[in-house]
Amino acid sequence: MSAPRPALAVASEIAPLVKTGGLADVVGALPGALAPQGWALRTLVPGYRAVMAALKRPKPVADWPDLLGRPARLLAAEVAGLDLLVLDAPELYDREGSPYLDAAGNDWPDNDLRFAALCKAAALVAGGAVKGWRPELVHLHDWQAGLTPVYLAEAGLATPTLLTIHNIAFHGLTAANRLAALRLPEVGYSLDGFEYYGHISALKAGLTGARALTTVSPTYAQELMTEDFGMGLDGVLRHRRADLGGILNGIDTTVWNPATDPAIRPFSTPAGKAANARILRAEFGLAKGAGPLAVVVSRLSDQKGLDLLLAALPGFLAGGGQVALLGSGDRRLENAWLTAAAAHPGRVGVRIGYDEALSHRMYAGADAVLVPSRFEPCGLTQLYALRYGALPVVARTGGLADTVIHANAAALAAGCATGILHQPGSVGALDQALAQLCALWRQRDTFRQIQRNAMRHPVGWEASAPLYAALYARLTVDNRETA
Ligand code: ADP
Ligand code: GLC
Repeated sequence: MSAPRPALAVASEIAPLVKTGGLADVVGALPGALAPQGWALRTLVPGYRAVMAALKRPKPVADWPDLLGRPARLLAAEVAGLDLLVLDAPELYDREGSPYLDAAGNDWPDNDLRFAALCKAAALVAGGAVKGWRPELVHLHDWQAGLTPVYLAEAGLATPTLLTIHNIAFHGLTAANRLAALRLPEVGYSLDGFEYYGHISALKAGLTGARALTTVSPTYAQELMTEDFGMGLDGVLRHRRADLGGILNGIDTTVWNPATDPAIRPFSTPAGKAANARILRAEFGLAKGAGPLAVVVSRLSDQKGLDLLLAALPGFLAGGGQVALLGSGDRRLENAWLTAAAAHPGRVGVRIGYDEALSHRMYAGADAVLVPSRFEPCGLTQLYALRYGALPVVARTGGLADTVIHANAAALAAGCATGILHQPGSVGALDQALAQLCALWRQRDTFRQIQRNAMRHPVGWEASAPLYAALYARLTVDNRETA
């Protein structure tokens, strides 16, 4: 077998070290998924406090006294099987709080510089800053990596770049007068560069500058080019239609394996979920149910449509349903859900916070997982749901539409239904979907059959890893031809 080919990934989060959402899971999973495809991925991440604390025997591989005006070092380290390059720049990253927000929940005021420095470091690495290692390709994730093509071009480097859009809602905007501080070229501040309505947009820099673009599901790739979903960047994406594709996310099926998961009572058939359901009800103070036990594990943000679910709650509870929700984020939504729990003791249970182990117990015990998103680039929780035999009840949008097979009459007859899909953004449609869930739950044999179908549905990286590898190969061939 030939030697693995080197590639650099650039991202602001990576599981298990630092995670605010699915981005971290995907960035953490890609190296393992791509290794059997002949690619050795190294991932460049900011040296946040949590990341620095997790490093064992890091090796300094580059020293930059003036990285966009701040001192920085680059450390190489292996953590949890991941080959990391960590940008150690204490002035930028050594702080209390999340990767993006201070303790009060506000964006760090210097986020533009924090992630521009990451991009500048990526360009330096592509240029050979790490002795004996040079990537053939740079894989960028979301706006935080978006300025990399600009710094590469400034350095005269033709290393091919791929930008993966996980969520177009975040543009990485900053004021135009930050050009000098970020050491960006004035020519780039234009309509076909990174100018966006009088601001600098790091995401647009990536969308216009990367050689290829992907997003995390085929449906979202199409949606992104429409006004309804493009969030002001649909025009740019239509312009780059020929270079944009959708590759579905997978999940780590060794971590998410109901037969071996140490966080739950292991099971391999739907009947084995009963013990987990009892534990889950007890944990959330729910009474013995006369209907389906549905769970939500989610960031609480407008994207996720959990305000719509609150509106649909009375109907679902009247049909015998119960809901357990684990989430955090928007304070208004947190309070509204706590109020709902107080109003429906024994029927609605709410836990505000972030708890990985509890999330496993919830998927294991649930009859259904609800994902009523207004938009959803891919979504991972419906994939865990499938694997754990909980029916995903999801909005027909983005990756949700690509991963769940609706239980209509034809799919039921063919024995391939795995869940319930409904129109996004509509309380009425959600009402109907939840009524269908209650009805199916009462048809025990049909419900069991759907659970079995769900548990068999492939949700790993087997299908998508070769697609990324093929794209990497194509991009690097192009580069050799044009070099
Ligand atoms: P997004 O990235 O938009 O938040 P995804 O469905 O892609 O949505 O990924 C969300 C990830 O975060 C999943 O791994 C999910 O289990 C996890 N998650 C979200 N909220 C919580 C929480 N409160 N506790 C534990 N895990 C959570
Ligand atoms: C984003 C999206 C989510 C996707 C995740 C990983 O956070 O909101 O749908 O699954 O990225 O790609």
